Formats: sequence, C-alpha cells, structure tokens
Amino acid sequence: MERVGPALSDAVAGTDDRVALPPGAEAALAGLAEPLPETGVGGEAALERLLDLTSAAGGNTAGPRCFHFVIGGATPAALVADLVAAAHDAVTYTWVLSPAGVRMELQALDWLKELFGLPREWTGVMVTGATMANFVCLAAARQWWGERLGLDVSETGMAGAPVMPVLTSGFVHASTLKVLGLQGVGRGNVRTFSRDVRGRVDLPAMRTALEVLDGSPALVVVNAGEVNAGEFDPVSDMIDLAREHDCWVHVDGAFGLFARVSPRTAHLAEGVERADSATVDGHKWLNVPYDAGYAFVRDHGLLARAFRYSADYLPSEADPRPTPGSITPESSRRARGFATWATLKAYGRDGHRRIVEHCLDLALHLAEVVRAAPDLELMAEPGLNIVAFRWNPGGLDDVALDAANAELGEAVLADGRFLVGTSKLGSRSVFRPAFSNWRTRTEDVDEFAAVVRELGGRMV
Ligand SMILES: Cc1ncc(COP(=O)(O)O)c(C=O)c1O
Repeated sequence: MERVGPALSDAVAGTDDRVALPPGAEAALAGLAEPLPETGVGGEAALERLLDLTSAAGGNTAGPRCFHFVIGGATPAALVADLVAAAHDAVTYTWVLSPAGVRMELQALDWLKELFGLPREWTGVMVTGATMANFVCLAAARQWWGERLGLDVSETGMAGAPVMPVLTSGFVHASTLKVLGLQGVGRGNVRTFSRDVRGRVDLPAMRTALEVLDGSPALVVVNAGEVNAGEFDPVSDMIDLAREHDCWVHVDGAFGLFARVSPRTAHLAEGVERADSATVDGHKWLNVPYDAGYAFVRDHGLLARAFRYSADYLPSEADPRPTPGSITPESSRRARGFATWATLKAYGRDGHRRIVEHCLDLALHLAEVVRAAPDLELMAEPGLNIVAFRWNPGGLDDVALDAANAELGEAVLADGRFLVGTSKLGSRSVFRPAFSNWRTRTEDVDEFAAVVRELGGRMV
C-alpha cells in the first residue's frame, strides 16, 4: 500500500505533461492477454504493471490536450473526493449504507439546480453520464405518456400500446436514439424536423405534425448543445410550441446546460426551467472524474413509478430515509455525490463560471487562429465550446477536402500530441475540438492548430 500514495501523486502531477495518446499503444499492450494467474503476483507487482501499461497505452483524457468528444478534466477537489469514495467503497443505494454518501448526493443535486437555474422542486438523480440521464428522463416521459393513455407501461410494457410520438430536430444526440430503442419506443419512431443539412429545427413542420396528433400526448426532445459545432435548438420557442399541445418536453443539455452558468451564454439555454426534464453531464464541463451524469425531472412520482424496486429485504416506500436506488436504473451505486459536492463546495458558482468562461475563451481564440491561418477554414462561428474547422490548403474541391480532413484526423491521432476528433458538419468533414477541461491553456490551443497545419502540410 505504500506505493499507492506516491504512484497516484506522480500520476496527477504528470497530467499536464503526459502525451495525449502514446504512439504504439497497441504494441505496448501485447503482453496483456495471458491466462488467468493460478497464483497472483501480489499487489505491488500488479500495481507496477498497471502503472507501466497506463503510461505506455493510456489516453491522457484528464490532460490539457484532449479535445475529443466532450471530455472534461477533473478539478483537484473532485479528484480527491472520488478517491475518498473508492477508499471507503461507499455504497449509496439507500441511506443506511452511507448516510453521508446519500445526503451529500442530494445536497450536490440541490446545488446543481441552483447552478443551472432549475426549479427547486424538481427531483435530481445521479447516474453514469448523459446517456443514462437521458434514460432516466425518457423513462419518466414514457411513464407519463402511458398514464395519459390509461396505461402503466412500467407494469404492462409497451406491447399493444400505440406508437409513442417523439419529435425533435436533426441535432438529436445518438444517446437519445439508443435510449428510445432500449425503452421499446423504437429508434425508427423518432421524427426529426430539420430545415437544413446541419439539422437545425424546422419549427413550422413540427407544429404541423403536432397539430396532426390532434391532442394525443407526445414527447418533444430539445437539444441544448449539439456535438458538431455546439449549436442549440431554439429552446424557448420549442417549449412554447410544445406547451400548445399535450407534450412532455425533455432537454438534452449534456454540456449545453453549462451555457446557463455564464451570463455570456445563458441566453442559449433560456427557458429550460419550463421543461419537464433535463439531462446534464458531470464528467463533461463540471470537471468531475468519469463517470457522472445528472437527470432532473419535474414529477418525482413518475420516477418512483417508472423505477420502482421493492422486496421484503429492501427499505419500504414509506421509509422517510432516502433510497436513491429506488428512483434510478442502478440499485447498487457508488458515491458519485462526493466529487460533485466537493468541487461545488471548493470552487463555488464563481469558480465553475470561470471554468466555463475559460473554455469559451479558448474556443474564441482557436476561431481567431483558424481565421488567421491561410490553410485553415472556419466552418461555423463557435457559440459555445466547440470549434468546427477544416484544413484547406487551396486547390481542392469539397469532396477531396472531406477525404483529406478525414485522413488528417487519423494522422493527428497517430501523432499522439493531441486527442481530437473529426465529424461531419452537414456533409462536410471537419475537426471539432471541444474545450471543457480547466487545465487547457491558450498555448495548447495554438500548438494544436500548428500540429494540424504541420501534418496537413506533409500530405500535400
Ligand atoms: C448532447 C449529448 N447528449 C448525450 C451525450 C451522452 O453522454 P455520455 O457519453 O456521458 O453518456 C452526449 C455526449 O457527448 C452529448 O453531447
């Protein structure tokens, strides 16, 4: 055990300097596949091996040069709190297993409602991430929909029920489709209303579709922050429209809800408090370690009915002490609340606003660097923390540029100095670095642009 403390502090101290993705990772892992040891090597030797393998083949997702997907870092307070949760092997299914774990989770959820300006009376729950937060919110929505039709879908299932109408824009995240697939609503039953190839919502078409439903209950999914350029559905307008009909409104704000933390961007997510449920991620812009996500639902009773979980050996529903495991998908659950509570306690609203604004500044800075570079092209004005751009040395048509940028994306990953992804903006291939880590510095952003140009230049 004496090695554990120094090994962890070395790992944390090296976060800024470790390469983003070590080249040759697969080769370094060649010896990993081996038969189950009949006799173990002992804790120290196992730990040494683990440390070797992670330094040779671990992505530095906590580091300042990871701009892939939307990946936050870990604030020092959150990181240590998560280690405390592991050290205590804290279990938060129900109050009696960890009064501190359960109460801290509830306190942290109350603070998050304050941070994001959500109504105090909504119920919050902690899960693994935004996919599971969407699962929670959409399970509540599905329960609501069933009850409007006189069904308890948690009890009877979806067999024999009509198709649940789901309306959204082309910004809808893949996780919403996954969740609706799992919940028997069906991915194929999701109707997207887009007015352009980027997926921006076609509100008049959505209005017509709602009118055709003629009062039947429906689910409207509002996307507050899409992954290709950080764009938003018109949150308030979509909620206004939904409120003219019998709709449950869910807002997927996995990272976009953080727009509400800064007065510079709060307008982008104005109106979320009028929805019925909202998703937000902790391991993205709150900078708590993986994995942590939060679901907020207006009607506690729907959660209790959708996730009910009872047996003679479990706490009864009448027990006044809280049992988070009876209103969430997981029964056994770790103490995610420690990290969220600790980072909010340590840095407060102001500290987290500064993290958000730091990332907004990084995105604006990269946009300027791209604009100034003759061989880079800005593909969308960054409104939040994602910058869509492409390498464009001139003389290539769009189709050739798509292929070149996809190839360059692979070259940047193979290079290993940065972890970053590419995507499609409409039909065009783009880089889409997302900034959500408190550790990222302006010089990291400058060097990133220089690396893209350097590796691009080698392809000409
Ligand atoms: C808008 C949105 N929703 C949901 C998710 C899924 O989040 P997670 O990977 O934390 O489950 C993401 C992830 O990027 C996202 O951007």
